[in-house]
Amino acid sequence: MCGIVGYAGPRRATPILLEGLKRLEYRGYDSAGIAVGQAGGEAPGSQTGRGGRLAVVKKTGKIAALRSEVPPELPGSWGIGHTRWATHGGVTDANAHPHLDASGKIAVVHNGIVENYRSLRSMLEKEGVRFASETDSEVIPHLVAKYYSGDLEAAVKEAIARLEGTYAVAVIHADEPGRIVGARNGGPLVVGVGDGEMFLASDVNAMIAHTKEVVYLSDGELVVLDPEGFRTTDRQDRPVAKKVDQVSWEAGAIEKGDFACYMEKEIFEQPESIDRALGGRLEADSATAKLGGLNLDRRQLRQVGRVRVIAAGTSWHAGLVGAQLLESLARIPAGAELASELRYRNPVVERDSLWFAVSQSGETADTLYAMREIQRKGGTVLGVCNVVGSTVARESDGGIYVHSGPEIAVASTKAFTSQLAAFYLFTLLMARMRDLSQADGARFAEALAGVPAKVEETLRCRGAVQAAAKKYARATDFLFLGRGLMYPIALEGALKLKEISYVHAEGYAAGEIKHGPIALVSPETPSVFLVPDDALREKTISNMREIKARGGPVIAVGVEGDDEVAAIADDFIPTPRMDPRFYPFTMVVPLQLFAYFTALELGRDVDQPRNLAKSVTVE
Ligand code: G6P
Repeated sequence: MCGIVGYAGPRRATPILLEGLKRLEYRGYDSAGIAVGQAGGEAPGSQTGRGGRLAVVKKTGKIAALRSEVPPELPGSWGIGHTRWATHGGVTDANAHPHLDASGKIAVVHNGIVENYRSLRSMLEKEGVRFASETDSEVIPHLVAKYYSGDLEAAVKEAIARLEGTYAVAVIHADEPGRIVGARNGGPLVVGVGDGEMFLASDVNAMIAHTKEVVYLSDGELVVLDPEGFRTTDRQDRPVAKKVDQVSWEAGAIEKGDFACYMEKEIFEQPESIDRALGGRLEADSATAKLGGLNLDRRQLRQVGRVRVIAAGTSWHAGLVGAQLLESLARIPAGAELASELRYRNPVVERDSLWFAVSQSGETADTLYAMREIQRKGGTVLGVCNVVGSTVARESDGGIYVHSGPEIAVASTKAFTSQLAAFYLFTLLMARMRDLSQADGARFAEALAGVPAKVEETLRCRGAVQAAAKKYARATDFLFLGRGLMYPIALEGALKLKEISYVHAEGYAAGEIKHGPIALVSPETPSVFLVPDDALREKTISNMREIKARGGPVIAVGVEGDDEVAAIADDFIPTPRMDPRFYPFTMVVPLQLFAYFTALELGRDVDQPRNLAKSVTVE
């Protein structure tokens, strides 16, 4: 999983490429590189040859490491760049992209996996090609060189026709000034249309500072761009007319502002992001929800007999909450499962099931492939996505955009609560078509509309959470425990802690601890309990006592004024009292903050934790 950028225009390409890569760093950050085309003039690091030349700089580490290697005034007005998250081959300068052909005139950046690279590599080696890296990607520039006879577009077409697997690529040739050829098959690629300049990138973040006019490429499409414009063709070489979309958010949405890191900013943004997810979708008069993107009419929705959610990571946790809610309120059997598991077990796709593919990025390979498998079997899949124009959003049969705005930190926070909002809206819609009365629907809608304010109040727990994180930061194992709607929230709390602090944590159903995990309890293993004032409160309190009786420290996230819970717990984090069905929105917040402050205590890189990537476009 990697990030790609490209620029062609009148300006110096290097600063634009470096800045774009910085915006894409969340996609992968173990190494990075750029190749800049120079129609004339000498420059350090250039690959010489006839006609133009390419200046190539590659470096392991983050973009800052690359930036310090790049000569400050490196000339060249077109180029490509890449930020890598290693799959084939270790993290070395040689394995970083761009990769070059033997002449050094062709440079390629690639996101994805070339599955048949071994056979392509041995074929090329037999023809005398010498490889400079261990990557699968390096076969691409050598293939392009093999087919090149003065027309880069034609050579790229020939080369990609031989690739199996997934890719988004961008290719330049030193002798074709200002031209970039891009192609996508499974990896995202977006064209940015500027005024006398053009951009290409894995996502719009990389170009939003320069243009808001973007074109989303589809699988099988190839684009050729130069400063004057672009044209796209399909696999059969037929021209494809593309729609230019307008990005709705401002460049400021991807600035950190006064916050120390993106994760902190995104946690504190949740009152607004949830509000955006709900925006205009609650109908007060009829006490229901309006979700225009579902592409299903009332009659079709009425026929839904079961809802099934597929997702990965945090999005799966949102699906688990959604499924519980749909069952309890709309009385529709529902479940959520891991896309990576479902895909390979030949799932039964019942006629009356409605499927949801939940994905912040809309690019997660596991979710995408599972979705396609269900569609192949005739199932209807709706997307719940944040990234507009993403692959899941475009290939699904309809869906709900969650409108959280760009989420940059690898650990998902605001996208999660907005995904919850999408499921609460959908549940209201479905429940009102079934057993929920107008009066009960109105109460639910009112409580949902009040969620952003409750989350705002919850954020006041910051100080208490920070103190608890400080106190327990040296613990090496944590349990996160909850029942009912709090079980997925416990899973999410444990995932957050693992992701960014690298501390081992297990999320468990509180009622299940006596069947094994209680053996882990000791004075060194804190348990974080989620204790809303719902129907399961007494049961959860019993579980807390079981832990206390065995000497385990207890941190309780509870409801303000719950003195009983506060008295049992070693540390009590109060959250505002509310309709118990809505606690997932608020009770996840202290857990997000707990992970954040623990990671800070331990000196971790909060936004870019080791080994992780924001969206994983490989299986
Ligand atoms: C990666 C991220 C997780 C995320 C998961 C699903 O593993 O590290 O934080 O929850 O992908 O991402 P998606 O974009 O599909 O929601």
